[in-house]
Amino acid sequence: MNIPIITIDGPSASGKGTIAEKVAARLGFHVLDSGALYRLTALHALRQGVDLSDEAALAALAAELPAEFRAGEVWLGGEQVTQAIRAEAVGEGASRVAALPAVREALLARQRAYAQAPGLVADGRDMGTVVFPAAQTKVFLTASPEARAARRHKQLIEKGNPANLADLVRDMRARDARDAQRAVAPLKPAPDALVLDSTAMNIDQVVEAVLEGHRASRG
Ligand code: CDP
Repeated sequence: MNIPIITIDGPSASGKGTIAEKVAARLGFHVLDSGALYRLTALHALRQGVDLSDEAALAALAAELPAEFRAGEVWLGGEQVTQAIRAEAVGEGASRVAALPAVREALLARQRAYAQAPGLVADGRDMGTVVFPAAQTKVFLTASPEARAARRHKQLIEKGNPANLADLVRDMRARDARDAQRAVAPLKPAPDALVLDSTAMNIDQVVEAVLEGHRASRG
């Protein structure tokens, strides 16, 4: 069976999650937030006292992750962790565990199982390059570090958190470099990806561009 898959990869704060949700809603497709699986693995390890450099133990945790996504909520072993996985420390842990090949391997089958009729929108770093290399439509969503930092700044301020724009731009550049330079599944566009720079685009314009790319790929 040929399930239509749209992959949306890109750097931190490029808007992948928002775009993936909206595109999926328009098409009635399922959604895979692959970053959440890395965040859940990190959170589970922190809770279980597993060292974030113990690759074998982390891979075992990832393979058996008692996680569930229900109606916009994320659950881990009977606990609602929707907010907890968004914490800065968990994001930092996620980027560390995501650099370990055995952890990525352990999460592969779970990610591929999301490819169900009528279709899937998958967001992450390596959806089009590693997890779904045969996806019908591949998008690489980017924006300047300044634009991404400004978006994150706005989100943080709205939630009442203190934030410094210059620090965010610096962190964004550092994280981009780490994601692009890691040995396993580095952040890079698939050769056949539609590259969208959303620096000067609003959300609706990006959604339309992805849907247009999907229509074009169906021929
Ligand atoms: O929201 P943000 O883009 O900062 O992070 P995320 O998409 O929730 O992903 C959390 C971490 O998991 C990132 O730092 C990535 O390095 C890693 N990740 C990955 O390696 N591969 C994926 N397919 C998705 C996320």
